[in-house]
Amino acid sequence: MSSTQTVASDTPRRYQLFIDGKWMDAESGKTFETPNPSTGATLAEVAEADKADVDKAVAAARRAFEGKWSKMSARDRGRLMYKLSQLIDANSQELAALETSDNGKPIRESQYVDIPQVVENFEYFAGFATKIEGETIPVPGQMFNYTLREPLGVCGQIIPWNFPLLMAAWKLAPALAAGNTIVLKPAEQTPVTAMELGKLIQEAGFPDGVVNIVPGYGETAGAALASHPGIDKIAFTGSTEVGKLIAREAAQNLTKVSLELGGKAPNIVFADADIEQAVNGAMMSIFFNQGQVCCAGSRLFLHEEVKDEFLDNFKERASRMQVGNPMDTATHMGPQVSEEQLNRIKSYVEIARGEGATVLAGGEPPQLEGDFRAGYFFQPTIFSEVTNQMRVAQEEIFGPVVSVITFKDEEDLIQQANATIYGLSAGIWTRDITRAHRFAREIKAGVVWINTFNMFNAASPFGGYKQSGYGREMGKHALDLYTQVKSVWVDLSGKPMGWFGK
Ligand code: NAI
Ligand code: MG
Repeated sequence: MSSTQTVASDTPRRYQLFIDGKWMDAESGKTFETPNPSTGATLAEVAEADKADVDKAVAAARRAFEGKWSKMSARDRGRLMYKLSQLIDANSQELAALETSDNGKPIRESQYVDIPQVVENFEYFAGFATKIEGETIPVPGQMFNYTLREPLGVCGQIIPWNFPLLMAAWKLAPALAAGNTIVLKPAEQTPVTAMELGKLIQEAGFPDGVVNIVPGYGETAGAALASHPGIDKIAFTGSTEVGKLIAREAAQNLTKVSLELGGKAPNIVFADADIEQAVNGAMMSIFFNQGQVCCAGSRLFLHEEVKDEFLDNFKERASRMQVGNPMDTATHMGPQVSEEQLNRIKSYVEIARGEGATVLAGGEPPQLEGDFRAGYFFQPTIFSEVTNQMRVAQEEIFGPVVSVITFKDEEDLIQQANATIYGLSAGIWTRDITRAHRFAREIKAGVVWINTFNMFNAASPFGGYKQSGYGREMGKHALDLYTQVKSVWVDLSGKPMGWFGK
């Protein structure tokens, strides 16, 4: 059974910038359009922030940080966050429909993955507000030494378009719990749900300026935020290329940085795996969210003994997937987020052919009807006969495209699996528990999935090794990104210090 949802209205929505608790046009008066990637039709017209607006937002965030927000009790801060999570939950249907309209992901994913995890993240970190504690240190002598865990101040947060509202939640929730104020820049491709979040933040009753939202382009608004001397921290999720630019900009002011960047995850199937389960996991690992997932299992390593059986099954399942209207609950894959991303994928199909790989399934856009002919759709695609040195095995494609590599033994496998600049995630399918745990230790990646893939929880840390970035989001580790430690010494002896007192 399938059903189709639509967004409330066909006329484009309008959004202003959200600064200091108020909605306002950009200083320049400029706006930009965000299309619905299913059809190319304009979904919303959005005020376009640039440096002058970022300056305003940073100043508002500073005032809020020095003012009401830092005087609020941790409990009240947590209660506001909890209230926000409930408001998001209450509006989840509309938020899911908007997310799908702006990003193209299947409504089933927006509704059952993205929005519920947004709620979960705000809820989880709401509870942390009252549990951020210092420590007492057993120093020698008549001294008392303790630590305070303090917020950093004003945090710039730049997020991507693949999980628009969820990436906002991953960044906002720990920052707010720790008592920081924020300037958030959503991706230009998908600003809509972030702006809706602004309305809910207002409704929840957060003081003005605690969260400011400045939609705009990366090279303008994003760069102005990353290089701003008035921010204490910059958090970024996106391409490794831009991550390096941001680290360079931030270095000018020694702004603290956390980066969650690209990946080229190995997903490994041993001969003793439950093949049915592994095929299912491989589908989920690369076709979820149209493959626009930094931790996607884009390098599929198959043991040569099971390669044929696996690929027959995998190819058949991939070609049966429904690609089309993402508002239809029967759809497995919607469009890619933008024409730029679609073209990038097409170019990698050419690169793969040129390198001698075989296109086993997909490799081109599907034939769709009506308005969807103008959408940015692509078929689930499998490249076989790939070697780990090929560009399609080394570069992040960020689409529903998987490169299949075969292997013989474990040692060779580990070497190949680690032979990439990235280290975000990895998956392994085997019934041998010693092998599974050995692999978990030997792989250089921030997340390892054993007989599963793409599992997330607000309580479990996520982040990269190597050029996949630094810092861990979610879980208690995320608080390290948004707090700093102050060590306080108190003399208990009442006596003059050392020889200076003599
Ligand atoms: P991007 O890295 O350019 O964009 C991500 C965010 O950074 C957006 O908000 C963008 O406006 C901002 N940005 C761009 N240039 C900036 C700059 N100079 N200063 C400050 N902020 C800037 O990613 P893009 O161009 O959308 O996608 C290109 C590739 O990046 C994808 O094909 C994919 O491989 C990778 N990517 C990885 C993501 C992840 O989750 N790790 C998410 C999005 C893209
Ligand atoms: Mg870019």
